[in-house]
Amino acid sequence: MANLEDLLKQRMAAAFAMVAGEPVEPAVRRSQHADFQSDAALGLARRLGSNPRAIAEQVVAAADLGDLCTQVEISGPGFINLTVTNSLLGELVADVLADDRLGVPRTQTPETITIDYSAPNAAKEMHVGHLRSTIIGDAAVRLLEWLGHTVIRQNHIGEWGTPFGMLIEHLLAIGETEAAAELSVGDLNGFYQAARRKFDTDEVFAARARQRVVALQSGDPTTRRLWETLVADSKKYFATVYALLDVRLTDDDYYGESFYNDQLQSVVDELDARGILTLSEGAKCVFPTGFTGRDDKPLPLIVQKSDGGFGYAATDLATIRRRINVLYATRLLYVVGLPQRQHFEMVYQTAREVGWLTDSVSAEHIGFGSILGTDGKMLRTRAGVSVKLVDLLDEAVTRAAEAIAVKDPNLDPQERAAVAKAVGIGAVKYADLSTDRNKDYIFDLDRMLAFEGNTAPYLQYARARICSIFRRAGIAPDRQPKQLVINDPAERALAIELLGFAGVLREVEAGLEFHRLAQYLHTLAAAFTAFYEKCTVLKAEDEVRDSRLVLCDATARTLALGLGLLGIQAPDQM
Ligand code: ARG
Repeated sequence: MANLEDLLKQRMAAAFAMVAGEPVEPAVRRSQHADFQSDAALGLARRLGSNPRAIAEQVVAAADLGDLCTQVEISGPGFINLTVTNSLLGELVADVLADDRLGVPRTQTPETITIDYSAPNAAKEMHVGHLRSTIIGDAAVRLLEWLGHTVIRQNHIGEWGTPFGMLIEHLLAIGETEAAAELSVGDLNGFYQAARRKFDTDEVFAARARQRVVALQSGDPTTRRLWETLVADSKKYFATVYALLDVRLTDDDYYGESFYNDQLQSVVDELDARGILTLSEGAKCVFPTGFTGRDDKPLPLIVQKSDGGFGYAATDLATIRRRINVLYATRLLYVVGLPQRQHFEMVYQTAREVGWLTDSVSAEHIGFGSILGTDGKMLRTRAGVSVKLVDLLDEAVTRAAEAIAVKDPNLDPQERAAVAKAVGIGAVKYADLSTDRNKDYIFDLDRMLAFEGNTAPYLQYARARICSIFRRAGIAPDRQPKQLVINDPAERALAIELLGFAGVLREVEAGLEFHRLAQYLHTLAAAFTAFYEKCTVLKAEDEVRDSRLVLCDATARTLALGLGLLGIQAPDQM
């Protein structure tokens, strides 16, 4: 199916190539001054040492745009302004509407993509960093799968290492039943802190804990069973959070640290065989090229500690090796907070040096900033301990229910509960996904839940309102429309916005910057509002009315699909 921006780009590229005698990126973009604008004549003129307006004139003369544009104008120093014909807009919107995928093609180059996300630590509270990873990772899963890639979810939970010695001893001390009760309801911090306190103050306990680590690592069956209990209880809690968040993670997606245990020695062996392992202060390290610390000293990636133990880096070398060599992934995403950027860059560089990571595979750290409280500091409760995730989410749903009770008092209670969940959870997710992920943002329920602004409730409400137009009129949307009649500037603006969906998704597929999709949906909803204020729909005459209904339906479907790709539900009524 033809994509408006692609069509214009192709024609302009051909014209530029004729003028330049070589390929030129035509730089066609949406514009305030016309429907689209190209500024490529400026760059080309600079390269050729000629006058940009003269170049623009030659390009316009060479361009074959007659069937696409009503107007092709040169403005300013040499911008080319393109105004698209109404009939082309009508034709393309009709095409989009007749397509289940709303004009978004499946990828031509399907890949196997692993997504490492969520990754909380067993027997420890999930913190807001895990919330961000879960939300961003889930959106990545949905989008990439929908575009036709094979996506493999990897929940790399932290359930191995020295703390488990003390945690198992604590579990024994308080009894398994008691421990299960605490952990599965999510009192993970209480459990962890109690264990830590004993470890720090009770020497006998600390000694036992250390022995436990040894027993665990050497595969002692009782210890292993206790460890499994601990992990299973934690997973029960994670499952409640995932259900509340409505994300796609399942029990089958756990590939935690412990999964890689028996692969770590061979990681060391391979690095050694490649000659990139160095002994440094008793530890086996790699010094990947390009990483230096203070005084320009090369930075080590510690693979095996002097006591023989393996750490976080060893495990991540095992994740990257397995994902490439066993899962055959060609794109590896690690959705983890920005503080771990250097860790991942060093792991990737090491993987390159050992030969696992080649040019046909990309490994990407999908980093993100912190969530701050309304005071601008790291999000914490008054008591100073970190906020419990479920409490935040529950509060969002409760407050959404209150807001909806005011907006639509006639909604039946069951429906209202479902809508409240969609709005409350949607608001939290959208607040996260609509900010540039590299930035921090403030967790402010008032703003997230507002029905105005760039929020989930605004978009959900915009769509629900469109649904109610059809409901009230008692008509079903026409999904096989003929050519649309588009004339009014507000209709044109909305149509052009609708036709931009595929292009935005292509961008997000590459950079996984979901705020671009959020921004698009918000602009689309705003274009719809402007259209709906200006143009009567139900009372318009035949053809115009039908066309406008199609624009309404296309907007509603684009909003629902776009929100869905962000992991956000769009209720028909609210
Ligand atoms: N469990 C880690 C943490 O809480 C995140 C793990 C991320 N994934 C990975 N492959 N290292 O910080």
